[in-house]
Amino acid sequence: MTSPAAAGPLTQLPAWRALQSHFREVEGLHLRDLFASDPARGERLTAEGAGLYLDYSKNRVTDETLRLLLNLAREAGVDSRRDAMFAGERINVTENRAVLHTALRAPRGSEVLVDGRNVVPEVHEVLDRMAAFADSVRSGEWLGFTGRPIRNIVNIGIGGSDLGPVMAYEALKFYSRRDLTLRFVSNVDGTDLTEKTRDLDPEETLFIVSSKTFTTQETMANATSARAWLLGALGDDAAVARHFVAVSTNAEGVSKFGIDTNNMFGFWDWVGGRYSVGSAIGLSLMIAVGPEAFREFLAGLHDMDEHFRTAPPERNLPMLTGLLGLWYRDFFDAQTHAVLPYDQYLMYFPAYLQQLDMESNGKHVTLDGRNVDYQTGPVVWGQPGTNGQHAFYQLIHQGTSLIPCDFIGFCQTLNPLHTGSQPPHHDLLMANVFAQTEALAFGKTQAEVEAEGVAVGLAPHRVFEGNRPTNTILADRLTPRTLGALIALYEHKVFVQGAIWNINSFDQWGVELGKVLAGKIVPELQAQEEPQLSHDSSTNALIRRYRDRRG
Ligand code: F6P
Repeated sequence: MTSPAAAGPLTQLPAWRALQSHFREVEGLHLRDLFASDPARGERLTAEGAGLYLDYSKNRVTDETLRLLLNLAREAGVDSRRDAMFAGERINVTENRAVLHTALRAPRGSEVLVDGRNVVPEVHEVLDRMAAFADSVRSGEWLGFTGRPIRNIVNIGIGGSDLGPVMAYEALKFYSRRDLTLRFVSNVDGTDLTEKTRDLDPEETLFIVSSKTFTTQETMANATSARAWLLGALGDDAAVARHFVAVSTNAEGVSKFGIDTNNMFGFWDWVGGRYSVGSAIGLSLMIAVGPEAFREFLAGLHDMDEHFRTAPPERNLPMLTGLLGLWYRDFFDAQTHAVLPYDQYLMYFPAYLQQLDMESNGKHVTLDGRNVDYQTGPVVWGQPGTNGQHAFYQLIHQGTSLIPCDFIGFCQTLNPLHTGSQPPHHDLLMANVFAQTEALAFGKTQAEVEAEGVAVGLAPHRVFEGNRPTNTILADRLTPRTLGALIALYEHKVFVQGAIWNINSFDQWGVELGKVLAGKIVPELQAQEEPQLSHDSSTNALIRRYRDRRG
C-alpha cells in the first residue's frame, strides 16, 4: 500500500483525544440551545455539491466539534487516501487491487491509469457496446429465437449484481420504457425465479446473468434453472444465444455456462461488486431507461466524484456526512443509522445502502491486521417516508437508542397529484420531512405538554426529549443525474469513514465462511443414506430434522 498512513493509531491521534474530552463537554448540549444561541445556524451549517443540498445543522455539534472532526480527517490522512484511490493505487490491500469505480464514470477522453495503462477507453468501449445492445433491444431489432422482439428483461444476480440495478431501476422508473417488463431475480429460493417468470413468455424474455465472478452459487443456480425454463419452452439449445447475455469479469466461466462471449459485457477486478452499478452491471437499467439517461446517471456519479475530490473539507458533502456519522458511532455509541427517503421511487435505496455500507465497513481489524479499539460501521436501515412514520419512528422519537437519520427529499415531484381542495400530495409529503426533523431536534418539553392541559400523570408519556440528530438532503428533482450524485455521496461517505477507521472498505471476507459451510452441507442434504454428520449438536439436529420432514 503506497498511500501515506495516518500519523499513528486512531485513538492516539491528537484530534481523537481532543474529541474525547470535547465530547464530555458537549454531550449534554441540546439542539434547542444550539439553535437559540445562533439564529443563523440553519443556513450556516449547510453545504451544496453536485446538485444536492445538505442541511446538517440539526446535528449535535458545535463549531468546535466540526473543527476537531475535520482535524481528525486530516490527521487520519483521508485526503491522501482519497487521492490514492482516484490515482488507481492498490488500496484494496487484502486483494491487492485498485479501487476505481470512479473510472467507470470518467468522461470520454479523460485518463485514469491502472498499472500505467489508461482504462478510460476500455470503459467507454464497453459502454458503447452496451448502448448498441440496449438500443437494439429497445427498438425491437434484437429478436428472440422464434423471431419475436424482447419485451421482458430478467436480471439474474445477487448482492452488488442485483441491488444496484434493482434500486436504480425502481428509482428511475419514471424515465423507463413502460412497454418493457423488468424483473430482478436474486434469491436462491426457487420462489424468486418461479414468481418472477410465471407470467412471462419465454419467446419474448431476455436473461441478463450478472455476476462479477460467475461462480456465485445463487446466481449460477438461478441461471441454470432459467435456461431450463427457456429450453423447456423453446426446445433448442441454440435459443440460449438469443435469450441469454452475461455481465462478468470471468469470460471463461461465461463460456462454460454456454453463453457466447460475444454476448458478454465485461468489467474489471478494480470494480467492487457493491460499487458496480455504473459498470456493465447496470445493463438492465440501461435497457429500461435508455443509453442517454444512463450516461446522465454516470454524469451524476462523476459530479459527486469531482465534488469529493476538489471541494474543501468543510464544504465537502461526503466528508461532512462521513465525519458526522463517525461522531455518533464512536463518541455517542450510536449503533444504527437510518436512511429515510421521502420518495416512493427510492424504495430500495436503504437496502442498497445496507450492502454498500455494511459490507464495506463491517470490519474489526485495521489494514495492518490489528483489532480495532473503537467502533466501525453502523447498522444501516430504513424505508421510504411516510410509511416508516407509522411503523418505527416511535422508537426514534421516544425510544432509548440514539438513531441518527438522513432524510432525503425533492423539491419537485415527478407525479404531481392534486385532488380537489386538499393540498397537493407533494406538499403533504414534504411537510412530513420538515416536521419530522423539527420534532426530532426540538421535541416537546414537560412544561409545554402540561401547558396543553395534559394530566400530570400522562405528561411524561407525551414528552419528546428531542435532541435526536438528522441530516436533510434536498435535491430539486429525482433525475438520473441526481440519483448518480446521491449514490456517489454515500459511496464516498463510506470511504471517508473507512479511511479514518483504517480498515479495508473494499474486501468482504466475512461472507466467505458461511458460503464454504453451505457448500459442505448441500451434499449432506442430498445424500440418499443418512450422512455421518460432524457439525455441532445443534446443526446436526437441524439437518436431521430437515431431512426427516422435507417430504
Ligand atoms: O456477498 C458477497 C459478494 O461477493 C458481494 O460482494 C457481491 O456483490 C456478491 O457476492 C455477488 O458477487 P458476484 O457478482 O461475483 O456474483
